[in-house]
Amino acid sequence: MTQARTEQNRVLVLDTDQRRAAELSDTLRVLNYEPITAGVGESLDRLHDANDVAVMIGDMPAGQGVGRALRAAAEERRSLPVLRVAGGEIAAAIDEQLERHHTWELDAPVMSSQLEFLLERAERYRGRERRMRITGKSPSIRWVRRLIEKVADFDTSVLIVGESGTGKELVARTVHDLSNRSGGPFVPINCGAIPAELLESELFGHERGAFTGAVSARKGRFELAEGGTLFLDEIGDMSLAMQAKLLRVLQERCYERVGGTKTRQCDVRIVAATHRDLPKRVEAGEFREDLFYRLNVFPIEMPPLRRRISDLPALLDELLVRHRGSDKGKLRLHEDAIRALRRYSWPGNVRELSNLVERLAILHPSGQVGLEDLPEKYRKHVDTDRGRDTLRLDDGTGLTLRDRLQHIEKGIILAALKDADNVVARAARSLNLRRTTLVEKINKYGLNDQTAAG
Ligand SMILES: Nc1ncnc2c1ncn2[C@@H]1O[C@H](COP(=O)(O)OP(=O)(O)OP(=O)(O)O)[C@@H](O)[C@H]1O
Ligand SMILES: [Mg+2]
Repeated sequence: MTQARTEQNRVLVLDTDQRRAAELSDTLRVLNYEPITAGVGESLDRLHDANDVAVMIGDMPAGQGVGRALRAAAEERRSLPVLRVAGGEIAAAIDEQLERHHTWELDAPVMSSQLEFLLERAERYRGRERRMRITGKSPSIRWVRRLIEKVADFDTSVLIVGESGTGKELVARTVHDLSNRSGGPFVPINCGAIPAELLESELFGHERGAFTGAVSARKGRFELAEGGTLFLDEIGDMSLAMQAKLLRVLQERCYERVGGTKTRQCDVRIVAATHRDLPKRVEAGEFREDLFYRLNVFPIEMPPLRRRISDLPALLDELLVRHRGSDKGKLRLHEDAIRALRRYSWPGNVRELSNLVERLAILHPSGQVGLEDLPEKYRKHVDTDRGRDTLRLDDGTGLTLRDRLQHIEKGIILAALKDADNVVARAARSLNLRRTTLVEKINKYGLNDQTAAG
């Protein structure tokens, strides 16, 4: 290990065994890492602030705030690489939080070769983690992340399929960002949106005077993507004539500008996407079979949101942060709203969710969004209006008995308010409740908008 390491390589050492902490620090210095062994409290601030610290844990009892700091990091979606020393005594509360991070075990006594190996892995993991932007923990989305990580470094063509709004473009960008072409350009082109007669010059460029209106020569997307990645979006909509030309580039890695004679070499990685069923189009004679096989070397299928609905809360968090970042206030969704959203079928997938969050962020810039604030179609399965519990009990939503009872209670209150023309005192009488009790419940369920003064 000769190269000097920078500040980027600080390692936080958390160990109440002082002797071992000192030894670990020495070993880290030998490996050119900078150990941070300040008092636990101070170290934890680092855990919050610095993105660039791997964490080593030996003995760590409860009550030092380590569990809390790990939880906070996980909630910010910062998954830390953690090296735990085998046999280290770690409080159960910390152990629980460690599951949310990427953890490797170090043999004890610690050997510098193993430490170096694991720290390098942790660093690589860290770099990738920051560029991996596909949110979600469902098995299907984890699988997608694995595929992306596997294929990124090869120049293989990738074909991303999936319904509209599932995140195909995000996957394409992530493939590029994780690849060794990430320093080069990522150039997207929507093959479906560009008229067939213009697509050729868009892709390959044209020489001056190549056609009416071509007053000067122009580079095409292949040229612009040189050294990087070309993202051919909606490839299923490409005309057969263009498909033939594209196939040639994929096979021979060269092309000519429209109206030009000079053959140009290209070094471009192709990632394509479509929401269409390509094998079906091949069968119908609308898509070239040979091109399909060229592109389909490495397919990635994006699951529709309804098939990974367990990712909804994480996606909501991600989108809320995104919209908050653009200063749209501090929107929060009430649990019953989230529950209703989990029951919706999401034909427009993550894009539809993103649009909904944006709309809510504008309508409720700093508020709690309750079930009642959702547009009609997102809450119609819940049907609280008639005070009836229409939740299916076998729907895998993981609702507890308490959740369901609250749901029913809320429905009854809503119905009573409606019958009482939203006058709280009257509704309280009909429910045989004290007015203050009803007001408490109204606040609890976020029904204030439903009430008239009174
Ligand atoms: N897993 C995800 N995590 C975070 N954001 C996501 C995720 N998937 C999709 N999005 C967001 O959802 C929106 C739609 O994604 P994207 O444009 O990639 O979908 P698409 O499949 O290309 O859709 P279309 O077929 O309509 O072109 C984008 O704003 C994207 O950032
Ligand atoms: Mg798209």
